[in-house]
Amino acid sequence: MAPATLTELAGESKLNSKFVRDEDERPKVAYNEFSNEIPVISLAGIDHVGGKRGDICRQIVEACENWGVFQVVDHGVDTKLVADMTRLASDFFSLPPEDKIKFDMSGGKKGGFIVSSHLQGEVVQDWREIVTYFSYPVRNRDYSRWPGKPEGWVKVTEEYSEKLMELACKLLEILSEAMGIEKEALTNACVDMDQKIVVNYYPKCPQPDLTLGLKRHTDPGTITLLLQDQVGGLQATRDDGKTWITVQPVEGAFVVNLGDHGHYLSNGRFKNADHQAVVNSNSSRFSIATFQNPAPEATVYPLKVKEGEKPILEEPIAFAEMYKRKMGRDLELARLKKLTK
Ligand code: SIN
Ligand code: FE2
Repeated sequence: MAPATLTELAGESKLNSKFVRDEDERPKVAYNEFSNEIPVISLAGIDHVGGKRGDICRQIVEACENWGVFQVVDHGVDTKLVADMTRLASDFFSLPPEDKIKFDMSGGKKGGFIVSSHLQGEVVQDWREIVTYFSYPVRNRDYSRWPGKPEGWVKVTEEYSEKLMELACKLLEILSEAMGIEKEALTNACVDMDQKIVVNYYPKCPQPDLTLGLKRHTDPGTITLLLQDQVGGLQATRDDGKTWITVQPVEGAFVVNLGDHGHYLSNGRFKNADHQAVVNSNSSRFSIATFQNPAPEATVYPLKVKEGEKPILEEPIAFAEMYKRKMGRDLELARLKKLTK
């Protein structure tokens, strides 16, 4: 069982054993040893067909082929909206534990607060608290699970989720064009696109070298837009997963990750970014991840297969089934690892 909040554990001098990872999983690179290898792409002029759009498209495609991750600036999401969302998120995690626990989402509730591991049921926990909003499709919103404290957060989250949906669709248009298919193809392949916002809070950690804020993974969905503060902690891999780098935080930028769904639809041309979050003992850290996922019933299968290539999936599969298999496989691997230790 995860503790109700991390407040008490963060004040201890030794890390609670629930969070201690095996040596091979522990951080290899410091949270603030930044690399600027991940491309930072300005989207100014993205709507100007015949102008800057072609160049922006080329940069995005190159980043997706090489990394599966890039950062975007000049993305058109209002600075004040981003600042409000960040401030309200930060205020929520400063609330006393009893206020956060009111939104406890353990036991399978759709949305709210939890101290979480990436996979429910995993033996080693991630050093993070989260708030999750199921924001699209709108009919799935259960406002009783949306923290109404601090005041105004619900309204700001609604606006934020709408603007990020627009930005995600814009990026998916670019990727569709790059694949030589109609520009709505990737969005349409998501059917009724699902959106989930996860606000991550990583408190200061007494022994950060022994743990992770969020263990290594690829996102299951199509595309993820991550807003992070200036502390640092997001890490991606290069050299086919052998070397970790810490992504340089860029004020106001969104980090864009391609997920498994995006990877499969492109027949493996676009990488699904392998990433994790590390923590530190100097300051707490925030990030807000907006996951754009296909509907559960959407079909996962390459949209276009180049001549001479084979589809990387044997047969079409529903996203819900793909998700279940991924989570089940990861859990099984964690269980076996524990048994063979
Ligand atoms: C995530 O992968 O969802 C979050 C990563 C981060 O907080 O940097
Ligand atoms: Fe992720």
